[in-house]
Amino acid sequence: MILGASGITGAAIAKRTKSDYNVSGTYFQNDYAVGIKLFKNNLKNKEELKNLFDFVKPNVVINCAGATSIPECEKNPEEAYLLNVKAVEDICMLVDKFKAKGIFLSTDSIFSGVNKNRDYVEEDVAKPRTVYGKTKLEGEALVKKYHNNHLILRISLVYGNSPSGIRGADEKVINSIKRNENYKAFTDEFRCPTSVDDIAEVVVRLLEGNHQGIYNVCGPVKVSRYEFACGVAVRNGYSENNVTPVLLVESSDRDIRSPDLGMSCEKLIKVINYKLNYHY
Ligand SMILES: NC(=O)c1ccc[n+]([C@@H]2O[C@H](COP(=O)([O-])OP(=O)(O)OC[C@H]3O[C@@H](n4cnc5c(N)ncnc54)[C@H](OP(=O)(O)O)[C@@H]3O)[C@@H](O)[C@H]2O)c1
Repeated sequence: MILGASGITGAAIAKRTKSDYNVSGTYFQNDYAVGIKLFKNNLKNKEELKNLFDFVKPNVVINCAGATSIPECEKNPEEAYLLNVKAVEDICMLVDKFKAKGIFLSTDSIFSGVNKNRDYVEEDVAKPRTVYGKTKLEGEALVKKYHNNHLILRISLVYGNSPSGIRGADEKVINSIKRNENYKAFTDEFRCPTSVDDIAEVVVRLLEGNHQGIYNVCGPVKVSRYEFACGVAVRNGYSENNVTPVLLVESSDRDIRSPDLGMSCEKLIKVINYKLNYHY
């Protein structure tokens, strides 16, 4: 069962798994056709979650749902806590009750992204700077507390097709260029953009290999937001001139955006024998 199958990551996992497994999923507000049976679910309603589990009786639960917008989490920390912490605990209890395998999608934002001299490995100290990062880290702690066989996947700047057409990091660039907006991108903010189809492949391989633990799941190349946006523009037939370079250090966003969240996913590659790609 994929919680949040209407989101970019959940939908890609649905697409990758639907022909080989009996997969169902949930949506909250957006009933997109993602090729699997979808149930409406509000994570904040514990009784509704319990009824969902009683009905589906899942043996694997992939949690891709939650509060995923960094600025929104800053504006509404209570909501972020309810979705990324409280609901995660409710889900953990149900996963245990059904003796299911729990997979939690986490984020590179659990790291600070400042004062580092190499890419983050799984054991590095987490020091989130945002409400989003803090709540995701609390979610991770709960998953570890409840399940011995937990899988926690820390993903980064997800790109690829989303059911809404607006969730992929590349879709955001293209949509903005198509609207003739001046797309501004930071030259001093670095990420390892991750293909959503690769994330889905990783989930399947980790599950089929019966792996557990925490894994960084990211693309093989660290780029600035500006380099990423230029790559996306050019690959889609637009000029780099559609992207304007700006500096994070001069931006009002500098307190909630981390300069360098580069991660290493060597641990993952060793266990799944699959090389993640970078398309731009
Ligand atoms: N996208 C990224 O770049 C990125 C980077 C790092 C980590 N992550 C993590 O990866 C996971 C998946 O992220 P994503 O980008 O795929 O998410 P997304 O596209 O923003 O989708 C979020 C999902 O959560 C559901 N949802 C929101 N509020 C809900 C509620 N109250 N009750 C039940 N469901 C609710 C949404 O349902 P509706 O759309 O139907 O309302 C949607 O299915 C998240 O844990 C996120 O923190 C994402």
